[in-house]
Amino acid sequence: MSQMTTIKQCSINISISNCEFLTDVISGLTQQQKSLPCKYFYDDKGAALFEQITRLQEYYVTRTELAILERYSKEIAQILPESLSIIEPGCGSGKKIAHLLAHMSKVKTFVPFEISTEMLNYSLAHLSPLFPELVIAPLLGDFTDSAMVKQLIKETALNSQTNLVYFPGSTLGNFNTLKAIEIMRNFQHLCGVNGYVLIGIDLVKQRQVLLDAYDDKLGVTAAFNKNLLQRINDELNGSFNLANFNHESRYNEQHNRIEMHLVSLCEQTVVINNQQINFKQGESIHTENSHKYTLESFKQLAAQANLSLEQTWQDDNNYFALCLLRPL
Ligand SMILES: C[S@@+](CC[C@H](N)C(=O)[O-])C[C@H]1O[C@@H](n2cnc3c(N)ncnc32)[C@H](O)[C@@H]1O
Repeated sequence: MSQMTTIKQCSINISISNCEFLTDVISGLTQQQKSLPCKYFYDDKGAALFEQITRLQEYYVTRTELAILERYSKEIAQILPESLSIIEPGCGSGKKIAHLLAHMSKVKTFVPFEISTEMLNYSLAHLSPLFPELVIAPLLGDFTDSAMVKQLIKETALNSQTNLVYFPGSTLGNFNTLKAIEIMRNFQHLCGVNGYVLIGIDLVKQRQVLLDAYDDKLGVTAAFNKNLLQRINDELNGSFNLANFNHESRYNEQHNRIEMHLVSLCEQTVVINNQQINFKQGESIHTENSHKYTLESFKQLAAQANLSLEQTWQDDNNYFALCLLRPL
């Protein structure tokens, strides 16, 4: 984990080693259903492609959540304690927290917590000119790593009973039920007994709207998905031919989730760091899940993490919800 610092002294360490990346890749590609962890999407190019996705016509998620924030940030800020620290796991570009910060002048410390150096840098570049007085303590690391989150609570400004954990973007939806509960339990510890957790969730909606959101006409989502293979080529000495894979978004009814896959167009063998991986024609690599919730299913999920759902804010189409939670 990198050291907590103010923005002016920010020095960032790479916390995910190539060794860990290689282990995760080989482990995922040697399962019966081949898979790759979505946390590796966000290298330099992946981060830039994700920013393009957020502006796509089909990708309603970002503009809908931003519209909710524009409308209700003041109201949300008035509910929160005046003086607290904020941590934002998976902060991305930092554009969403800016709406809340505009109504919160007494924030002690803001901790953007990212796995991607590029995303962390985007957020710093966006926020520091907007809030020159704000103490920003960037953290490069993996929020799915419970040991890292526990260390974070012990060692940092977040060792307090009044924090806000802000988790927008429907990032929680990337995890299966058990992992989502574990992540939210860690957030419950991070926020402290008098603190809050604010989570953005994507709601169940018409299947075609969902399928289109993850398979846009311009092919930006396809490029984002395939970039994971390019990253393996670049960083792990891989031999993927990207033209031999097709991007697919699928709706899994049983789990209420969109799945992204990369489908092999032919029988082929790929070599990664001297290890051969065989693909049959039509075989897929499962690269991402994006679970969709109802308010009731999310309330039940949160309860299993000892969090109670206090209030929600939604858009007019009921596509997306911002959910405020407190420790039970
Ligand atoms: C779907 S994007 C959401 C970005 C932003 N929160 C938003 O709402 O637009 C997910 C973000 O989480 C980061 N991320 C993904 N997995 C992570 C992990 N395990 N630990 C820390 N950050 C992670 C990615 O780099 C990316 O910036």
